[in-house]
Amino acid sequence: MVIIHAAAELADFLKKERLTRGLVGFVPTMGALHEGHASLMQQARRDTQVVVLSIFVNPKQFNENADFVNYPVTREADLELARNEGVDVVFLPDVSDVYEDSFQTESANYGDLTAVFEGGKRPGHFDGVVSVVRRLFKIVRPDLAFFGEKDLQQLAVIRQLSKIEFPRIQVIGCPLIRDEDGLAMSSRNVRISASDRGHALKLHSSLLDVLRCSKTQGDLHGAIDRNRDLLNEDEHIELEYFAAVNGKEFSILKGREVPEETFVIVAAVVGGVRLIDNCRLGCS
Ligand code: PAJ
Repeated sequence: MVIIHAAAELADFLKKERLTRGLVGFVPTMGALHEGHASLMQQARRDTQVVVLSIFVNPKQFNENADFVNYPVTREADLELARNEGVDVVFLPDVSDVYEDSFQTESANYGDLTAVFEGGKRPGHFDGVVSVVRRLFKIVRPDLAFFGEKDLQQLAVIRQLSKIEFPRIQVIGCPLIRDEDGLAMSSRNVRISASDRGHALKLHSSLLDVLRCSKTQGDLHGAIDRNRDLLNEDEHIELEYFAAVNGKEFSILKGREVPEETFVIVAAVVGGVRLIDNCRLGCS
């Protein structure tokens, strides 16, 4: 496994690899890697010949400086995990390699998609995400890029970015990976205390309850309202949203029909840690 810090060196290296080995698969991350990230690397390993992992804690996508400063960094363990997953190249850029001197972001405006839910609750977040992924795409020039359904709205936003600016990059969405108790894996989970974890798990059980009710009773909207009320009643949970949406446009589902691409999405702060989770309706 090769470790590269400079953008120009990576571009040079990949130029040769592309010619001799084949398709380049790209997994962008912010490090503190876990099994969710590993699943993306495994998918990239299956689909492409050259697997590139980037680890870059993007300062431009955090809403609070404390969240950025406290973002976990586990560099040695990350490299070990990447090696075990058969990653070919780890890109570890500095801020200047990614943003050059300007350190500017561009605003990302994809209509409602960038304005609602995560876009509404975290102003500027998608500007930072799109700006960094745009730069990383230009440096790596992958054939396929792998993103998790854990960050479902981010995935939809990146699909838009790719459609408009990088039509030759195929964006692959990978399933959400959970811990054994059901909590959606996240680098920030290490900051949840044992007692708060019990409350955090209610997010997943609420999603499962909606899934069950919509399947057995056809009562999606009733189940959404009931579970939203239950989460709001828990004083350890600061609920931000709980809704059924179309997983492409993030428009709220209105009628009784439940189209295939419907997801229930949730965001909440538990014990000072912001968590997001989702569940596709129509599958277990
Ligand atoms: P990060 O949170 O490190 O996540 C990197 C990738 O791993 C994202 O595509 C995310 O959706 C995926 N991922 C995280 N947890 C997952 C889980 N439990 N199951 C499946 N996939 C999971 O997302 C980012 O970084 C950044 O916004 C980034 C795209 C790197 C831009 O800075």
